[in-house]
Amino acid sequence: MKLTGEEQAMLAGESGPGVQKAMEIISALGRIYGAEDLVPVTSVQVAGVSYKNLGEAGLGFLTEWAAQGGRVRVPTTLNPAGLDLERWQTLGFDAGFAQKQRRVLQAFAAMGIPATCSCTPYLVGNVPALGDHVAWAESSAVSLANSVLGARTNREGGPSALAAAITGRTARYGLHVSPNRQAQLVVEVGCPVRSMADFGALGIMAGQVAQARVPYFRGLHLSSPPSLIDPAGAASLDRLKALGAAMAASGAVALYHVEGITPESGQADIIAPDAETVVLESLAPGYASLDADDGDQIDLVWVGCPHASLGELEQVVCLLNGRRAGVALWVTMARHLREEAAGSGLLHAFEALGGQVVADTCLVVAPTEALGFRRLATPAGKGAYYTPGHSGLAVRYGSLERCIEAAVTGRWPASDEER
Ligand code: F3S
Repeated sequence: MKLTGEEQAMLAGESGPGVQKAMEIISALGRIYGAEDLVPVTSVQVAGVSYKNLGEAGLGFLTEWAAQGGRVRVPTTLNPAGLDLERWQTLGFDAGFAQKQRRVLQAFAAMGIPATCSCTPYLVGNVPALGDHVAWAESSAVSLANSVLGARTNREGGPSALAAAITGRTARYGLHVSPNRQAQLVVEVGCPVRSMADFGALGIMAGQVAQARVPYFRGLHLSSPPSLIDPAGAASLDRLKALGAAMAASGAVALYHVEGITPESGQADIIAPDAETVVLESLAPGYASLDADDGDQIDLVWVGCPHASLGELEQVVCLLNGRRAGVALWVTMARHLREEAAGSGLLHAFEALGGQVVADTCLVVAPTEALGFRRLATPAGKGAYYTPGHSGLAVRYGSLERCIEAAVTGRWPASDEER
């Protein structure tokens, strides 16, 4: 693998042991995957932030790397931590855990990484352009960056993303290389897919078929093109965010194309000549696999996996329609967006109806099992897929409308309209 003079100097330790360690990781990955060279990255998104996942070993690893002089040289954002950094006591998190989590964030801060703590970095300023090479680790964000923004990233691990941030480079293999971005699976969607929960159910099903291959969707329709800038496209972006997150969860899909919608879908050679085709005629299997259907008593409703946009929070407030939540109703989102919601009065409107905007974390990476909840309702495919295993909660899965009814009454409403 070719290294420039500067890269060789990093590898030789001329910039200190922290940079040397980072370059050792990047060059080892490049050799393993047969990369010809390294490519500069414009941004990094680091996962492996919650102390729940890192434990003492992870905390020690990060602290040592920071002490060795590891410092990021490109804009870098962090995935969610294990709790809301400001309101953890009110929400019932443990003080010992909070202290460990603080030490993790101190190690990241020493490396120059602010505590953005969100899985939607693209909603808070980390927005790669079409064709940019980046090194992102959070699987749902990787999917959105590759598929919707047209940036290029592999699904990095925590250490490899951090190494890319410290060296400013990643190895050119996988999804950084054009031929690997071809679809090997065509998914013909033969049923209506409208709501956030529909997109999550479809994502779970498509991911199970794709199994890390790149799918190309036909027959998916959105009311407007997805956009981070145009408010008319925000709801479409939210739906693709749900689709990609669910596919990443069930099938490790890091890139997908949607005919007529995603930026690379119109390229002449975007579908491999030997691509398999599957037809999905119903979302019912996706709903069935996510909904435990084991009881109607709900004590927590969760919206915001991936972290919610302001539009999603607004939709929740609209659906409450002046009614107060009778059980815990959590919307998880980036702290920066929570502050925007506070500024516009949206946060106050939501809190007045008994809701909580929980920043910096989510129910999968937080030690939710210690909070005393038993059964969760959510319209988020990825959240429903992971919560039982990660937090031990039973899950009811359905439309946002159904979840908000459950938040008001504490019972899962009998309705099968979305199936
Ligand atoms: Fe984000 Fe947590 Fe879901 S990290 S994608 S809200 S599982």
